[in-house]
Amino acid sequence: MYQPAITGTGVFTPTESISNDELVVAFNAYADKCNAENAAAIEAGEMAAMEHSSSEFIFKASGIERRYVMDKTGILDPDVMHPSLRQRGDDEPGIMAEMAVDACNKALAQAGISAGDIDLVICAASNLERAYPAVAIEVQNLLGTGGFAFDMNVACSSATFGIQAASDMVRAGSVKRAIVVNPEICSGHLEWRDRDCHFIFGDVCTAVVIEREADARGAIFTILSTRCATQFSNNIRNNNGFLRRSRPSGVVDRRDMQFMQNGRKVFKEVVPMVSAHILAHMADEGISPDRIKRLWLHQANKSMNDFIGKKVLGRVPQTEEQPNILQDYANTSSAGSIITFSKHSSDLQDGDIGVICSFGAGYSVGSVLVQRA
Ligand code: COA
Repeated sequence: MYQPAITGTGVFTPTESISNDELVVAFNAYADKCNAENAAAIEAGEMAAMEHSSSEFIFKASGIERRYVMDKTGILDPDVMHPSLRQRGDDEPGIMAEMAVDACNKALAQAGISAGDIDLVICAASNLERAYPAVAIEVQNLLGTGGFAFDMNVACSSATFGIQAASDMVRAGSVKRAIVVNPEICSGHLEWRDRDCHFIFGDVCTAVVIEREADARGAIFTILSTRCATQFSNNIRNNNGFLRRSRPSGVVDRRDMQFMQNGRKVFKEVVPMVSAHILAHMADEGISPDRIKRLWLHQANKSMNDFIGKKVLGRVPQTEEQPNILQDYANTSSAGSIITFSKHSSDLQDGDIGVICSFGAGYSVGSVLVQRA
């Protein structure tokens, strides 16, 4: 058995971003347009008028101030209301693979190794751009890694589930060095016309290099232990898929073909599930809350994270103990906890212990206990 460690991380951040104010202007213009087009039906009481969104609500309900996206022009056009991403030819790199290569190269540089040293690529993300060939295999090809590659999807928990899969393989010796990459184009599966959720997501890609601790150069994070759990729920759901697409009824405009959630229920059910999961994981590893120096939590909602942090530490965490990137990136699905880990971990001291935790649709929750070495 070998001791696995995280030796590098990388973040690809899109160049375009949308502030809450910009988003709300576009949404409200769309709502006004819909209301004007349906004035008679609204007047007759056959349909409800669309209500305006508000920046104040968005910030207060979620903690989000802005989000990065791969294309803001389409999203902010009231006649479009989704990203306008060019359909790539089959003989050119896919958009997810392109983001992934950028994040992977940053993670490889931090680890001080080259792509040829990697013998496993896992592409773990909420929505993959195609069924096959695996995006991971395309990334393997573009980077020039050896070994094998595969895709996996556990929605917002994909990164931690991927880290568990990769670190178990490194531990067992079936691979020597792995990279787990999370390209998240959430803007492509968000319903930008739905006031209840149009502000939630952003785009990004993260990558994590995992190898044997004994092979590492420089400061690393030893992976002490990982734990994953799932429990079925329909409260976060996206019905998009090839079987659904073949149905004759309204392909483009079916609401269930994009992200849907019962946000209140998610909030109520996921918070206790996640805090109990982390606490049980720590207890089984003999780690008491006072030894936790940092929580790198999934970034979906600030209040949710505040609840979880308080429950896990048994007190209100200091800002630096539970950093957030939500205000700048919004919810980036599986990548959120890894962005936070990547940007807020280098100051930890030798021996410091922290928890990376992601959670979301499924329901699913994954925790990774790491120690600075
Ligand atoms: N602008 C202004 N008002 C809005 C609004 C918007 N964009 N969206 C909703 N509202 C209104 C609602 O109509 C409602 O009004 P009412 O009280 O008069 O009926 C009120 O604000 C509260 O709406 P609600 O949906 O209950 O808000 P909330 O406080 O639950 O916050 C979420 C919404 C989505 C931010 C919150 O539930 C959440 O974060 N849940 C967890 C989400 C999550 O983690 N999902 C996982 C995704 S991977």
